Order: sequence, then C-alpha cells, then structure tokens
Amino acid sequence: MTDHANFQNEIYLQGMVGTTPDLPMTSAGLEEAAAAALSPEAFAYVAGGAGDERTMDANREAFSHWKVVPRTMVDVQQRDTSTEVLGLRLPSPIITAPIGVLGIVHDEAEVAVARAAAALDVPITLSTVSSYSIEDVAEASGDNGRWFQLYWPGERDVAASLVQRAEAAGYSAIVVTLDTKMLAWRPRDLETAYLPFLQGEGLTNYRTDEAFLAGLEGDWDDNPQLAILRWIGLFADRTVTWEDLDWLRSVTDLPIVVKGVLHPDDARRAVDAGVEGIIVSNHGGRQVDNAVGALMMLPEVVDAVGDVPVLFDSGIRSGADVFTAVCLGARACLVGRPWVYGLGLAGEAGVTHVLRSFMAEFDLTMALTGQTSVAGLDRHLLRHV
Ligand code: FNR
Repeated sequence: MTDHANFQNEIYLQGMVGTTPDLPMTSAGLEEAAAAALSPEAFAYVAGGAGDERTMDANREAFSHWKVVPRTMVDVQQRDTSTEVLGLRLPSPIITAPIGVLGIVHDEAEVAVARAAAALDVPITLSTVSSYSIEDVAEASGDNGRWFQLYWPGERDVAASLVQRAEAAGYSAIVVTLDTKMLAWRPRDLETAYLPFLQGEGLTNYRTDEAFLAGLEGDWDDNPQLAILRWIGLFADRTVTWEDLDWLRSVTDLPIVVKGVLHPDDARRAVDAGVEGIIVSNHGGRQVDNAVGALMMLPEVVDAVGDVPVLFDSGIRSGADVFTAVCLGARACLVGRPWVYGLGLAGEAGVTHVLRSFMAEFDLTMALTGQTSVAGLDRHLLRHV
C-alpha cells in the first residue's frame, strides 16, 4: 500500500512552525525560478524547443482537451499506486525521462538524479549524452531500476559497445530514440550559437568508450576539438530503418523500447519489428515545430499495438497529467523538464522535491476519482472536450 499523498501533510505540518517549502510547488514556478538561477544558455537549452515552439504549446493544449470525471463514495483508505513495466516494479507510473548534458544545470548531474530516484524507487533512464558515465550512474543508482537510452551512433562498433556497457552495468532495457536523426532548428540556441556538446559537455560516454577512442587519432585531451569533430560525425546514424533493429537485437539480450513514436502506423511497424515497448513522445517539442501534441496520439497508438506496453512523455507537468495519460492507456510516464529545473535549483534535493510532488498528486488524484489501484484507471474516468 502506498501513501505518497502524505507529502502534503509533511508540508502543512511544517507550515505550523512557519516553514514553507524551499522550492516552488508547480512546474511553472520551477521553470520561472530556474530561469532566474541558471545561466541564460543552460536555461534556454533546457526550456527551448524547435522553431516557434508551437509543439510545446500543443503538448500542453492536448491535456486541456481531456477532463477528469471524479468518482465518489468509494473506500480509498488503502491505495496502491504501483505498476509494472518490463519486469520493473514502479511505486508510481513514473520514470525519469532521458535528459542529456545535465552537467550544464548542476555539477552532480545524473548522479544526483540517480540518488534521488533510488531513494524513492523511481527508475531512471540514462541518456547517451550524459555528463557522468554509464558505469558511474549505475553505481550511484545501486539496485534501483535503470534503462539506457541510445542515440544510435553511425559506427556499429560504438553502438554495440555503448549497449553492451549498459547491459554489463545493470541497465535492464535499451530505449532507442528514433526522432533525433538530426538536431532540429532551435532558435533559442541558435541565437547564442550554443550547443553544449561542442563545448565538450555530455560526451563522457564517448570519452570512456574503447570503440570510440579506437577511431580517434591521439588522446582525447591532446586534441579535444578532434574528438568533438569525430563525435559530430557519428552522433546519429541517419540511415537506420526498422530492419536495423534486428542488428541491435543481435548485440544485446535486453528488451528494446523505441522512443519518439507518434503515428499509429509507426507503432504497428515497431511491433512488427519485435520491440518490447513504445514511448509516445515528440521529444518535448524539441524536434519538429508545429507537430501534433503527443497526448493526442496516445489513444491511437495504444489501440494500434495490442499488448505491447506503451509509455508516454511530452508535456507532463504534474501528477494529475500522469493520471490522464495512464487513463488513456500509458503504462507509465517519463517525466522530463520539471525535475531538470529541480536539479538546477537544488541538486538531488530538487529532484526529490519534484518526484515526490508528482507522486503525491498522482496518489491524490487516484483517490479522489474513487480508485484504489492503477488497474482501475481507464478512459471512463475522462471526457474529451
Ligand atoms: C531531452 N530529451 C532527450 N531525449 C532523449 O531520448 N535523449 C536525450 O539525451 C534527451 N535530452 C534532452 C535534453 C533536454 C534538456 C530536454 C528538455 C529533453 C527529451 C526527453 O527525454 C523527453 O522526451 C522530453 O523532455 C519530454 O518533454 P517535457 O515533458 O520535458 O516537456
């Protein structure tokens, strides 16, 4: 049984002695505080999106079209918010989204995230372009659940090496991001000509990779520019197609989850290719401007794929949003920007604050819609307007 809702009692009790939370209680508040606290470049990199950022607006707009219908007079004293995905037990249908280059918002970056998440048993997804290595993050997360996100490199040796390092370090699924064969047109970053990777940020997994280093002339530190140029050349294999997933499967025993599916035909294609999971996502509006809000496509994808678990991200800003996505068929949600702001503001404690807030609100929303377990959440609790 769970009582994540108790977080609010802790806060109110502190209020009795005049103490208020150190951090904002809403995602909008966190974003505003982060805007003031982070360097302008780092904030723009995290907060920004593709083009005119219409996809980011569409992600939020999509949530406003699904309204929750509360239910009442049900005994909700005992509740269980836990769920299961690919063998992982989740205390709440929440996993951290893969977010790269966290070193630009906090020195402890993914290590702080791993620790905060592990203390709450919330699984993490580590980005390929992390600031700490696959192995260091594994160590920080102990026996907590973890997945590894792959940006599929243009050299197969490097791709296989990254995946096999993750497998050896106890990551239990490979999340292949499909929507980033090229980095999109991002005006906020273009205005300051800022791409963190080109400053050497987020490349630790390549710097520590034998296959990557084998193709580098000389040592990384002797000529970092050369290393970065090599990275630019192989960051993303633009030629991969569904058929190539067979190759990926040949180099790992881990389940493969594809991230960045929106069209139900792509979802069907992924299922035909044998993937074990699908993440409906538009990369938080960072890739295609004026794209469809990701939540709009969730029901169609869920209906298209049968029993393959579907997860969701893009625009999740609260535990209530997690509730809506789960009602629409998401097995779990990947939470992104809100905890990045928490990390930037207060390191590990900031991530904890955001995850606990989401888990508490999810628990409360479930209770107040008369549900005692995640199994009861479905479209009957929503109305489309
Ligand atoms: C991302 N995202 C991302 N996705 C991925 O597969 N690998 C990565 O390295 C990154 N890096 C990254 C950095 C930053 C700063 C952001 C904001 C996002 C996308 C991420 O996993 C997720 O899809 C979005 O964050 C979801 O959108 P919201 O809910 O954060 O707006």
